[in-house]
Amino acid sequence: MSIIYNEQTKNFQLDAKNSSYVIGIFEGGYILHLYYGAKIPAGEDFSGEYYRGYQASFIPYNKAVRDAGYPAFYPGNAPMEYPTNGAGDYRTAALAILNADGNTVTDIRYESHKIYRGKPRIDGLPSLYADENSAETLELVARDPYTNAVVTLYYTVFDELDAIVRSVDIKNDGDKAFKVDTAASLCLDIHSMDYDWIHLWGQHCQERALSMTPLEHGNQSISSKRGASGHFHNPFAALATHGTDETHGEVYAVNLVYSGNFTISAEVDAGCTTRLVAGINDHDFLWEVKPGDSFRTPECVLVYSGAGLGEMSRTFHRLYLDHLIPEKWAYTKRPLLINSWEAAYFNFDTDKLIAFAERAKELGIEMLVMDDGWFGRRDNDTNSLGDWYIYEKKLDLKRLTDTVHAMGLKFGIWYEPEMISPDSDLFRAHPDWHIHVPGRPETEGRQQYIIDFSRKDVRDNIFEQMSSVLDNYDIDYVKWDFNRNMTEAGSALLDAEHGLEFYHRYMLGLYEFLEKFVKKYPDLLLESCSGGGGRFDAGWLAYSPQVWASDNTNPIDRCRIQYGTSLCYPASTMGAHVSHRDNISDYNMRGCVAMAGTFGYEMDPRTFSEEEKALVKQQVANYHKYYDTIHYGDLYRIVSPYDGNQSRSIWSYVSRDKKQALLTVATFQRVFNQNLFVRMQGLDPEKTYFCEALNLRASGARLMNAGINLCDQLRQIGQAKEFFFEEV
Ligand code: DGJ
Repeated sequence: MSIIYNEQTKNFQLDAKNSSYVIGIFEGGYILHLYYGAKIPAGEDFSGEYYRGYQASFIPYNKAVRDAGYPAFYPGNAPMEYPTNGAGDYRTAALAILNADGNTVTDIRYESHKIYRGKPRIDGLPSLYADENSAETLELVARDPYTNAVVTLYYTVFDELDAIVRSVDIKNDGDKAFKVDTAASLCLDIHSMDYDWIHLWGQHCQERALSMTPLEHGNQSISSKRGASGHFHNPFAALATHGTDETHGEVYAVNLVYSGNFTISAEVDAGCTTRLVAGINDHDFLWEVKPGDSFRTPECVLVYSGAGLGEMSRTFHRLYLDHLIPEKWAYTKRPLLINSWEAAYFNFDTDKLIAFAERAKELGIEMLVMDDGWFGRRDNDTNSLGDWYIYEKKLDLKRLTDTVHAMGLKFGIWYEPEMISPDSDLFRAHPDWHIHVPGRPETEGRQQYIIDFSRKDVRDNIFEQMSSVLDNYDIDYVKWDFNRNMTEAGSALLDAEHGLEFYHRYMLGLYEFLEKFVKKYPDLLLESCSGGGGRFDAGWLAYSPQVWASDNTNPIDRCRIQYGTSLCYPASTMGAHVSHRDNISDYNMRGCVAMAGTFGYEMDPRTFSEEEKALVKQQVANYHKYYDTIHYGDLYRIVSPYDGNQSRSIWSYVSRDKKQALLTVATFQRVFNQNLFVRMQGLDPEKTYFCEALNLRASGARLMNAGINLCDQLRQIGQAKEFFFEEV
């Protein structure tokens, strides 16, 4: 049993692999957060936690609790499990309901609970999955007696991972409609402010850069108002004790399973405690719930690590491989691909792509992906999005797919299903199908608009158009792109009362489409993309096992992008290619870095020199040799590209049985006369390993403690090498 309810203390204890989470039901039905951290025995007395230390003048107290004979109880400085607005707690609210009287005072109290093995999936939203052998779920039911909102807090605890998945359902059990103004997926009240606030910021070509700063009094937050998770902040954040590194420190991390507008905030109050809240962004959000209806928040994953960021990441990776990424793909080897974009941009035809495939085939590449430019009359980015029929003057898709398949290669195709060009047949036929606010000038992005996926008629049209290609041609892979963010966010079908439901309705429409799409095409490999890595989130990973990580394929920049991405997302999700673009590095470095992702090429194979061909063949061989270790093994980040003089990045993957390890060392700057000692991690100290590249036989204990000096291996700027260790 991972979840225990103690009748006497009225505490719930949720035990994950090495961690415990304790919730208490206090007088009056207040639901309090009592503990989250390293595992503790069940049944501890937490009653001292109900009242917090600092004096509470100017913090109102609950009279009924005092009248029941308890010391004064101040909701505004107590550790609340799912805090509400306007009833004594001035900190960030997780829940605010606009009631029929026009105020947002909300106050929920415990009513009942249910504990069961397994985990339910959420209808209409991406969600993690788990059967009764791996997880247990608590449903904690509370009610706001004033609105009769029944609020169910869901917690799924994983037996073998330090992870809890949370979400909240808000049902209208009354007879008047209300509006959900704020509904976070989770709140975590922590007793201190002695933490660093970690998040991943970025922009196009610089996604998921690491930021780590000490918490300060007040509110620090990351968010998106773009209608997409976005390049600028990933929906991931963590609080880590000061001094946390890859192997030490206590970390609480959250990652939203959602691809739209979000906020994750950490508020430090006067008592120096911290409130972490994550969920849908409540800016431009107001959701009507009629009597009998419900609103369900997206899920949010909460991970605890008592052993630094490395352990946190390995928990996320294992959790996503085993419980989020579609089962069909999580442990299926992905085809090594070549993509036409950086090789040809819009400038291709059938023969050119066949020539790409022929050269690629000789090198051992397994799939040709035809990127943007195959539909409508698209020769540049000014037109045709929405016209998903073949550009016949440019392309004979039947001859192309037949020829490519006859060579034994797979074939992939690019779409941008959520977009419409003002210069397209679809736009001319349906000028009100894009997101807009009538009467206001529209803001363009990349000369295109976003089509209104909150509308079923729009979704059906796009689905049919996509089906008419996918049903009639042999296609193995779809790259789903999204090259701008939302502005003038309105739908022609939403009335004034429901205008602020738009952003979330769009997401629900998108998820409905994806659900239907993956059901109809279960064998099709879907890769998500958004101008590089602008929608790299756990919501997408529920449908698409890989996401293009960035349009920046320079390996030095990629070391940083992939380092940040790896904090939360496993290697098998990270689209990474070797290209010619912006490279100051050697070819080998591009390969070593891309190998830490899904791996592929984004260049014209007809131009390869004999030397390049030999290198590609070697990389293809390495890809197969190292695939399982990288994609199913555990990641150990040994030297961060953000560390010290930022001259290198070093990481390794260790197979789960610890029989193999692939160590990769990448240098960014020339370092004169320095040793390059690498102490490996995650090996079995008792095992003996052999590394052919170094002709070295050594124990796991020596490799991890004494390390190895690689100074004579890497001397140039922009070099990388892989060192494969196998048990002997
Ligand atoms: C942006 C993507 O990130 C690129 O890889 C490419 O697919 C282009 N869009 C095509 O327009």
